[in-house]
Amino acid sequence: MTHIIERHFPAYKGELKHLYGFKPGYLFLDLTLGDGGHTQEALESGCHVVSFDVDEKAIKRATDYIKDFQPLIIDSKDENTRVPKDFVWIIIQSNFTKVTEVSKRLSLPDFDGVMVDLGPSQFQLLSEGRGFSFSGNELLDMRLDQTLGVTAADLLAVLNEGELVKLFSMADEPFAKPIARIIAKQRQIAPITTTKQLSDLITRIKKFRTEGLPAGRHGRIHPATKVFMALRMAVNLERENIHLLLPQLPNLLKTSGLMGIISFHSGEDRLVKNFIIDFENKGILSAINQKPIEPSIEELTISQRTRSAKLRFAKKII
Ligand SMILES: C[S@@+](CC[C@H](N)C(=O)[O-])C[C@H]1O[C@@H](n2cnc3c(N)ncnc32)[C@H](O)[C@@H]1O
Repeated sequence: MTHIIERHFPAYKGELKHLYGFKPGYLFLDLTLGDGGHTQEALESGCHVVSFDVDEKAIKRATDYIKDFQPLIIDSKDENTRVPKDFVWIIIQSNFTKVTEVSKRLSLPDFDGVMVDLGPSQFQLLSEGRGFSFSGNELLDMRLDQTLGVTAADLLAVLNEGELVKLFSMADEPFAKPIARIIAKQRQIAPITTTKQLSDLITRIKKFRTEGLPAGRHGRIHPATKVFMALRMAVNLERENIHLLLPQLPNLLKTSGLMGIISFHSGEDRLVKNFIIDFENKGILSAINQKPIEPSIEELTISQRTRSAKLRFAKKII
């Protein structure tokens, strides 16, 4: 039986309007459409919006939610598409790393504001059959973009033990070594192909390792959370994509245009912070906030996920 997944709660909901200064005619580029919360906030403020997403299911959901605006949906590979000058809402199915190329081909304008809300949406994490969640029993897939060739099960089959340790450590998994060791042993007996197999394996090893330790050391999140996050990030080349995207952002903006980047992991936030410092040194950007903006108390009470959200804002100064 398929279950209905609630709409993704957009991080910093209600605040972006003020941070960006949305007003009629404002040109807004949302590079991570998801369930469309940020795009909708911009559209309802009178902005003209271009939204990107790599996942066609996300695009379908966003258009179902945003009923008051009719998007022009563009296939990024279509050479003949022209963007009307007076567009209100355009959706482009593409990886955001291609944004400069797509933007040139379609002659998109320079924008007043650009938004990047990293990671998967709640819908993607909880959808059946995509292999993101440890609560079901599905094939370990985890691809946001179905055209990608490598699944999480493939990574578990081909990475050597040392590479697995490195991968899990990048998600701050404290038991990276014993988990990698048991995966390497287990796969000699049978391949690890399902979410339940992996989740049970991790739960067992952590239970064994933490028995007798004071509560709190190993408590609040599901034991498999960080390993699943590490695999998801690797399958979708999330770090590589951020690396490729960040230096493109200033060129998409008008002078005094603003960019906002929301991340959910300390490693990603570090990449964003260093990028902003680097472009400040080059005289291209100016950070609006030295420390990331944390979600409001009000938002934290509504959405658990935003607990780890960090928003960095910068202005283009040339
Ligand atoms: C956290 S969700 C965005 C949620 C959205 N702001 C909202 O209010 O509903 C991130 C979205 O970005 C998309 N995404 C992730 N990586 C992407 C990439 N490299 N290129 C394009 N879209 C990507 C995902 O498919 C997902 O739908």
